[in-house]
Amino acid sequence: MPKLLFIGDIVGRPGREILRRRLAEFREAEGLDFIVANAENAASGSGITAVIVNELLGYGVDAITLGDHIWDQRGFDREIVELEKVCRPANLPRQCPGRDFVVVEKAGVRLGVTSLLGGAFMKVEADSAFHMVDEYLARVKDSCDALLIDMHAEATSEKIAMGWYMDGRATLVAGTHTHIPTADERILPHGTAYITDVGMTGPYESVLGREVPAVLGRFLDGMPRKWEVAGGDVRLCGCIVEFTPKGMAKSISRVCLKD
Ligand SMILES: [Fe+2]
Ligand SMILES: [Fe+2]
Repeated sequence: MPKLLFIGDIVGRPGREILRRRLAEFREAEGLDFIVANAENAASGSGITAVIVNELLGYGVDAITLGDHIWDQRGFDREIVELEKVCRPANLPRQCPGRDFVVVEKAGVRLGVTSLLGGAFMKVEADSAFHMVDEYLARVKDSCDALLIDMHAEATSEKIAMGWYMDGRATLVAGTHTHIPTADERILPHGTAYITDVGMTGPYESVLGREVPAVLGRFLDGMPRKWEVAGGDVRLCGCIVEFTPKGMAKSISRVCLKD
């Protein structure tokens, strides 16, 4: 049965390093067919570059999703056009560059990959994921056998609502963006695997990947500070899903590898 690993928000160098050290061995040990990662924080905690995309693909990642930090690195709006394994959120305005759908094929099974941005507290312009997703699925459904949706959102309500809305229409709806793993993984009644947040891949001795004193200081006195990526307690977090060749999820389990 095909097996995928979906990895949550890769944060900075610590997040990339744990992939470099652990991913190939883990892929072998688990017999993973597909590896998809959200890498919106892979470059110094904000955004990504073409160089880092290629670095991550070199570690064994098959496709990359992004989120609200997509444009944080200067020039990525030009680079993304050439990056065939990078998927931008599908509900960004139509004019935005990049692909909104990526397919990875392994052993005759085509896994479609996309991400959707939630509406609450997002600082980037996007259409309602709920309003556009039916039309989107109609457009992509014949190009894949299984479908992974990275639901990149702040509000747990939006994530679980999308899980229910996609039940039976996607193989996995997995949340990212909040960087904190949740313990609610399950298979919904019509065969969609769901989890509210897979957690980040990066330093957990931190506030969402950033050094504690700087973020805490901001809460205490409100003064602006540079938020450096932290370094302690690095973990690789995500979920593993087994599914039928037709894209129906059979199992979901959380992954948390400590360095
Ligand atoms: Fe993130
Ligand atoms: Fe985000």
